[in-house]
Amino acid sequence: MKVVKVKDYDEMSDMACSFLIEKIERLQDPVLGLATGSTPEGLYKRLIEKYNDRKVSFEKVSTFNLDEYVGVAKDDPHSYHYYMKDKFFQHIDISMDRVNVPSGMAEDLQLQCEEYEKRMVDAGQVDIQVLGIGVNGHIGFNEPGTSFFSRTHIVDLEESTRKANARYFDSIDDVPTQAITMGIETIMDSKEILLLVSGAEKGRALARLLNDESEITEEFPASILKRHERVTIIADWEALNG
Ligand code: F6R
Repeated sequence: MKVVKVKDYDEMSDMACSFLIEKIERLQDPVLGLATGSTPEGLYKRLIEKYNDRKVSFEKVSTFNLDEYVGVAKDDPHSYHYYMKDKFFQHIDISMDRVNVPSGMAEDLQLQCEEYEKRMVDAGQVDIQVLGIGVNGHIGFNEPGTSFFSRTHIVDLEESTRKANARYFDSIDDVPTQAITMGIETIMDSKEILLLVSGAEKGRALARLLNDESEITEEFPASILKRHERVTIIADWEALNG
C-alpha cells in the first residue's frame, strides 16, 4: 500500500481528483468504482469544476457505486442514488445508462446482488475503486466479521455505522438497518484502489491499518487491502495524527 500524506481535506480532494483524471485520460473505457459519504464530496466537487473548465469528459466513463440502503427509494434524498445524482452525475456529461448503483428497492434483493456482480464482469471490472473507511474499519458496508470471500450482498448495519450516518437523517431511528453492498472480494477484484482518509475520527482505524502490517483479519475489514497489489491511500494530517 502506498501512503500519500497530505495537509488537509482540500489537499486530499485535489490529489484524488488529479489521480482519477489521469486514469480517465489514459484508459479506453474507464470503469470507476465510487463511494458516497462525506469523504469523497470534495473529490466530486473538483471533478465537476474540471469538467466545467473542459479539462475532463466523462462520456466514456462507466461507474459502479459501492452500496445503497435497503428500503430507500431512488428519489429519496437519503438514498445513495440521490446523493450521486445531486453531488456528481447531474453536473457532468456522463451517460446515465453507464451509471450503476445497486437498488435497495428491488423485489428480489438476492437476484439484484447477482445481477450487479454480472454487470461489473460485463463492464470488464472496476479499473479504479474509490473507498472511504468506517470508524470500525468497514469498507463499502462490509462490517467487521464479513467474510473476505463475500460478493455483493445484503448486510445488517452496525450501531456505530448507523450512528455515524445519523447526521444525514432526522434521528438515528430513521437510519436504515440494512444495506446492499459490494462484497470484500468484489472490492478486491478492482484493478486498483484509492482509499481516502480524512479527519481525526478516522485516526484509530487508519493507525490500525498502517501500523500492524501483519494483521489481516475479518474483524477489521480494511485490513484485506494489504493483500491488494495496487492500493494508494491519501490521508490527511488529522487522520494520520488523530
Ligand atoms: C460509502 C461507503 C462507506 C463510507 C464510510 C466512510 O459508499 O461505502 O464505506 O466510505 O462509511 O464514510 P464517510 O466518508 O462519511 O466518513
